[in-house]
Amino acid sequence: MPIELRPATADDVLALAALWHTGWHDGHAGHVPDELLPFRTPESFVPRTAGRIERATVAVRDGELAGFTVVDGEEVEQVYVAAAHRGTGVAATLLTDAEQQVAGAGHGTAWLAVAPGNTRARRFYERQGWSDGGGFTYVAEAGATTMEVPARRYVKSLGTPDGLRP
Ligand SMILES: CC(C)(COP(=O)(O)OP(=O)(O)OC[C@H]1O[C@@H](n2cnc3c(N)ncnc32)[C@H](O)[C@@H]1OP(=O)(O)O)[C@@H](O)C(=O)NCCC(=O)NCCS
Repeated sequence: MPIELRPATADDVLALAALWHTGWHDGHAGHVPDELLPFRTPESFVPRTAGRIERATVAVRDGELAGFTVVDGEEVEQVYVAAAHRGTGVAATLLTDAEQQVAGAGHGTAWLAVAPGNTRARRFYERQGWSDGGGFTYVAEAGATTMEVPARRYVKSLGTPDGLRP
């Protein structure tokens, strides 16, 4: 089944927020401090999505919105695939595109944060050539404030940035 990628638009905000909310709980419940959960309501994802929409890329599979990424400089900030589309190659297509966005902006290395207990995501990243760069403290949005969350930093070398090629 073909997988198509396109930049997200303002019309995608509500659908992406719903996908993100469901996927966030799939990947994080039990793997982040319980105190963070009350901040991750369905409504909370709407402004968080709207604030990132210009950096988001959407995957469409079989006419359905199947997943999305958000890239922020060197960071692949979000990678989410709807449950019905996991294990189909959507995630790999999205992540490869995100890596190309990071490399295209001139960065030689991409990084992302993953919850230590999110074993499916970690296995996926490792299969895609990413490696565990160690533990660190991720500063997560928590309403109007932030919360420190233990995380693993995954990295992938993308080759030499264009500007530094001999
Ligand atoms: C993380 C995510 C994007 C990966 O996409 P996916 O389509 O599920 O990935 P794949 O199925 O291609 O790969 C997952 C790997 O984990 C394995 N896996 C499946 N279920 C698993 C589980 N419960 N525990 C551990 N590994 C699991 C799969 O077998 C596969 O490994 P393999 O290729 O060696 O067999 C997707 O699962 C998702 O959106 N999850 C919820 C949101 C999330 O956690 N996002 C990442 C935040 S950092």
